Amino acid sequence: MAVTFTLNGQQRRYSGDPRTSLMDALRCDFRLTGTKDVCGEGFCGACLVHIDGVPKVSCLLPIGAVEGADVTTIEGVGDLGTLNPVQQAFEDFDVVQCGMCFPGMVMTLSHFLQDNPRPSRDEVKSALVGNICRCTGYERIIDAVMSLHNSAEGRK
Ligand code: FES
Ligand code: FES
Repeated sequence: MAVTFTLNGQQRRYSGDPRTSLMDALRCDFRLTGTKDVCGEGFCGACLVHIDGVPKVSCLLPIGAVEGADVTTIEGVGDLGTLNPVQQAFEDFDVVQCGMCFPGMVMTLSHFLQDNPRPSRDEVKSALVGNICRCTGYERIIDAVMSLHNSAEGRK
């Protein structure tokens, strides 16, 4: 049975096994390798995508579960020509080292900042509880997120 869903704004169809994880289908079948395969067990957040606007880990989710849904991956939130604001802040603060956590963090923070455009540092820390970074250290990541709010203040 084929699975049809919207992927980064385009109608797509998957004809393989509907029990395949969404992460594997995205990476191997749709060639969207920005979604990272790190733990494969649902605890690191590297494979986060938005499903109907809500961040979900894609490694534990069978692709059959997204029938009719709206799926957005890191490729759908920004690109090299037009970075998402979180991506731009991460670049400005030189946050990324190996980069494996980066797409998942962008997916978490993009959603979080929609509802909380002026977060405190503690709120940003709480928002990132499901995203593990082994390289950079969270202080710089949080500095980058806080800069979005500060630069918005500066423009007023
Ligand atoms: S790869 Fe999915 S949560 Fe780690
Ligand atoms: S930059 Fe390497 S895990 Fe975060």
